[in-house]
Formats: sequence, structure tokens, C-alpha cells
Amino acid sequence: MARTVKNFVCQQCGSSFPRWMGRCDACGAWNSLIEEAAPESAPKGLGSKRGRKLEFVGLEGKSAQQPRTKTGIAEFDRVCGGGLVPGSAILVGGDPGIGKSTVLLQVAAALASGIGCAYISGEESIDQLRLRAARLGLAQAPVQLAAGNSVRDIVATLDSGECPGFVVIDSIQTMFVDSLDSAPGTVAQVRTSAQELIRLAKRKGFCLALVGHVTKEGLIAGPRVLEHMVDTVLYFEGERGHQFRILRAVKNRFGPGDEIGVFEMTDGGLTEVANPSALFLADRQGDVSGASVFAGMEGTRPVLVEIQSLIAPSALGTPRRAVVGWDNGRLAMLLAVLEARCGLAFAGADVYLNVAGGLRIQEPAADLAVAASVVSAISGVPVPPETVVFGEVGLAGEVRPVSHMETRLKEAGKLGFGRAILPADPGGKSKRSRSPVAASGLELDRVSRVEDIVRMFGPSRAAARTAPRTAERANNG
Ligand code: TYD
Ligand code: MG
Repeated sequence: MARTVKNFVCQQCGSSFPRWMGRCDACGAWNSLIEEAAPESAPKGLGSKRGRKLEFVGLEGKSAQQPRTKTGIAEFDRVCGGGLVPGSAILVGGDPGIGKSTVLLQVAAALASGIGCAYISGEESIDQLRLRAARLGLAQAPVQLAAGNSVRDIVATLDSGECPGFVVIDSIQTMFVDSLDSAPGTVAQVRTSAQELIRLAKRKGFCLALVGHVTKEGLIAGPRVLEHMVDTVLYFEGERGHQFRILRAVKNRFGPGDEIGVFEMTDGGLTEVANPSALFLADRQGDVSGASVFAGMEGTRPVLVEIQSLIAPSALGTPRRAVVGWDNGRLAMLLAVLEARCGLAFAGADVYLNVAGGLRIQEPAADLAVAASVVSAISGVPVPPETVVFGEVGLAGEVRPVSHMETRLKEAGKLGFGRAILPADPGGKSKRSRSPVAASGLELDRVSRVEDIVRMFGPSRAAARTAPRTAERANNG
């Protein structure tokens, strides 16, 4: 007699186990295993049936360039790598309430009169969608709305007759395939639903956008297992209290990854922010200690943001290290370098670090800007407001060169900054190092060690602050 096999699937990573556990062995998520219907049977192998012979071709050849469809929302087009590709699938992930439905409705409305759009919602009623459209001022756009959860119905609808060029499924967690026993939102359902929809998109040649919710751990719940199935993964981020929303391309088969689009959430929906640096720096307080401006790169675009830190005496045995917008481990590393190489002491002090505006920085190039901000916070010496900082810091305290130095400098020059603190030229005192100066018109302070930052803004500077400027100039070689 066949034994019923139990099957518990992690909702975070998709691994399956024969028994329930509190913690997934594969990804370490807690309480994420849910019992799902067991797979039909073990794979049977190929058997004796013959397959069809494949034909090999060369890398070069005549393939029709897929025309991209521009939405006209420049920030969205940029993240997609220059427009939507017919027959491709996009996954838009993000926290609930961040604006996924809003941006997709805006994109759908922008495309509706051109290639035709269908918006299928499993979460909201038609009335709610209409209300949102009215709020966005898009009620006139010829978007085809539908509410539904059954993938069978959706496939049947789209497969019959004329099919729109852009289809939004909001959200993939609410969709279900009736041939599976699992509940909607489980890994098996999410994966199968997405597979069916993507296959249809490829066959009919429409662009499919799937909305995927994210859990509090920051992973796309369930849809994490979708990331490899879709062509493009976009991730909506931003602090809920802030008005900025950042759409980040995490993966893109048709364009550069790590490109960002910046939006502002207003009463009339999401509006594009063409110059994010100016916006991120708009509320900057001038001459305060603990703040530095980082000249960063997001994809192909330079973005300047302010990094703020605060150091306060701690009442706790283990002082706090609170970070918003940067990596916790990276801050711990940098503090350790400053302690071990520069003799600064952070024991007994809480360290708070904040990237203003709600941006999440992932580049190691921010190390030096964070170091400047932390050192300035501990000494009380402000980093001059017209200065930008960038560079990677290694464990030995060395400052390493980073990519796109000239682009960063040019953007800083454009925004009126007069001075940059940046890594020393790897080629030593090479003549060529002057070229970025000419390009940006900035005064350059090249530093090779993190100690140089301490010399510029550290506690000894605080003591000598009344004395004429000396230490700072010494580094300008
Ligand atoms: P929504 O797109 O529904 O989020 P998601 O689909 O990611 O869950 O966005 C909802 C939030 O956006 C809600 O908190 C209200 C806000 N919002 C505005 O501020 N202005 C607007 O014009 C709209 C439509 C929404
Ligand atoms: Mg929504």
C-alpha cells in the first residue's frame, strides 16, 4: 500500500523537507515551513522514447532586434533597460503599501492607447481600482480591468482572440491553479501560476508584469523562487515615511542590472525625479558635525546622498549600532578599522548611521564617506559642506580606488561642490591623475589611508580648530 508522503516546503526559499521544523535548514528562515501537497511521484527518467535532434547555430546570425516599447515614464524605462521587451516577464517586488500597484497602473495607463493593457487584480475590487485611477487622473485611459484569481480563467481569457501588449498580474501570491491542492500564496502555487503565465506571455508575445509581496525579512515571499523564472526583477524600496520611492533592477536579462529609478509619492501618484541628487541633498543642514556627502553610483547614474551619523554615550553593556540604508556588518568592519588603525574608541558609545532620503547604498565606495561622517561625529569637527567623499576602505586601513571616479566628480561639480576627498591614484603621482580635475573643476584631496580622514576631521583637529589650517593641506599631494 502506498504510504502518504508528507512534504513541508519553505515559503522563503522553496526547499522541501519530509517533516516540519521550526527553522529551514536551507535558508535559515524561522517558521517558514508549510505542508504542501507532495509531488506526484519521483521523476521517471527518459525511458526508451527517442527525442528530436537539436540544430546548432553560430553566435553570429540574423535575429530580429526586438523593438522595445517605451512607456514614456523615463525612470521606469531606464530601470527596464530602455523600455519593455515583448514576450518578457517582469517581477515587481516590494513591501505592502510601497506603491507597486500605483506604478503599474500608471505604466498600464501610459501604454494603454498604444499596445493595449490588461490589469488583473486578485487583491482589489474593480471599484477600488477605479478609485485609484481617478485619484491618479488616469480614469480616461483605455486599460482593461478585471478582478480574478484563477490562472485557468486568466489564461483562457488572454488566449482567446486579441491579446493586449502589456498584462499586469497584481499579485502573484493571490493567483491559484485549480489542479494543485496547495493554498494560494504557497510556493507550489506561486511557482506554477507564474510558470503558466510566463509561458503564455512568451507564446503570445505580450509583456507580463507580476507583482510580488515581500516579507519582513526583505525577501520576496515565495516569489524568491520566481526570480530565476522571470527576465527582470525590479524591487521597490524606500522608507514608508519618506516620499521617495526607489525602483531598483536587481536582475535584468535585457539591460544593465542595478539601475535605479527614483520617484516621489505625491497625492497624484508617483512622479518621476529626474535629478535625485538635488532632491536627496535638498534638506541638508550646513556646517554640522557627523554629516558627509557621498558621491555614489546607482547603475549608470551618479547619485549624491548625505550620510549622517551620531555617536552618543551608551547606557548598555553592548552598545547599539543602528544603521538605516547601509550594511550593518560593513559599519562594524569600518568601526573596527578606525579603532585598530587610528586609535579611535567606540566602546561604550552607541553609533547611529543614517542615509538621508531613504536610499539604500550597496556600494563599498561609501566606506570613506561613512568614515568621514563617523569621525566627524566623534570629534565634532564638521566635514565642510561643499565636500564630497568616496572610496573603499580595506581592513588594513588602506583606501582603494573605486569605479566611475570621473562620473562621480562631474556630478558633484554640477551640483556646486568645490572639493572631493577620493582615493589616491593607483599609479602614484601619475600626470594623468589631473584629468578628472579638469573635467569637474573640483579641488581634489587624494587620500591613501583612512588615517588621513582622521587627520582631517578627527579629535586632534578639534583641538587645533582655532589654529590655522595645516593638517588638511598636508594631504593634498
Ligand atoms: P499601492 O500602490 O497600493 O501599494 P502596493 O500595491 O505596493 O501595496 O500604494 C499604496 C500607498 O500609496 C498608500 O499608502 C497610499 C499611497 N498613495 C499616495 O500617496 N498617493 C497616490 O496617489 C496613491 C494612488 C497612493
Ligand atoms: Mg497593491
